[in-house]
Amino acid sequence: MEVVIVPDAKAGGELIAEAIAALVRRKPEALLGVATGSTPLPVYEALAGTVRGGGVDVSRARICQLDEYVGLPAGHPESYRSVVLREVVEPLGLGEDAFMGPDGTAADVQAACEAYDRALGEAGGVDLQLLGIGTDGHIGFNEPCSSLASRTRIKTLTQQTREDNARFFDSLEEVPHHVITQGIGTILEARHLVLLATGEGKADAVAQSVEGPVSALVPASALQLHPHATVVVDEAAASKLKLADYFRATYAAKPEWQGL
Ligand code: PGA
Repeated sequence: MEVVIVPDAKAGGELIAEAIAALVRRKPEALLGVATGSTPLPVYEALAGTVRGGGVDVSRARICQLDEYVGLPAGHPESYRSVVLREVVEPLGLGEDAFMGPDGTAADVQAACEAYDRALGEAGGVDLQLLGIGTDGHIGFNEPCSSLASRTRIKTLTQQTREDNARFFDSLEEVPHHVITQGIGTILEARHLVLLATGEGKADAVAQSVEGPVSALVPASALQLHPHATVVVDEAAASKLKLADYFRATYAAKPEWQGL
């Protein structure tokens, strides 16, 4: 995989936004898989700025969701559907018809998972999937020991993830225990995976994912199995990488036209 070390989160956001813009210029109807959480916000901000400045026309692009809480009432501001509409779809000037996600309010959650997994394939597959990483190494909500071949399904959050996400809710008790997440096998079907990690809190998870063995214990290590995976990290998140200097030199020597 390619590891790109950037000075800070803003630079990471700008770099990935440019990669998304370049993709949409090549393929205007691209299906863009987005992630929630704090990390990807600089990407969405930079991309919306490029769109406002006329740098790319995203009017035909489509947006799809990576994961969702189960059991929050429809329209809850912290449901990932609401978050993606607010942080991505609206700022890009798109409508809800450009958006697809799993139904976290479905009575039959299993059927909703299978329907979403199928819908992604029927939509032509995800062109670029943006990922964050949990402090426990999760991607999407694939917690440690998720099958590396898993499909979209219901998962139970670890206590650590619930605590990490409690800042979005009034209390820890309000954080749902269950989620729907694209499986690791589903995520690996996207044509390009771009993982962004910033801050020292992610340094261990990044080092294990990039330099450790492929292991279900560290779900993000599955990116090693993908032919086109890019990991963008700031200096703090890169601080535990043994090969940091090699990654810097490799990226510095890369021709600019190649993009991510
Ligand atoms: P964060 O979440 O960007 O808010 O740290 C990342 C994740 O849990 O995947």
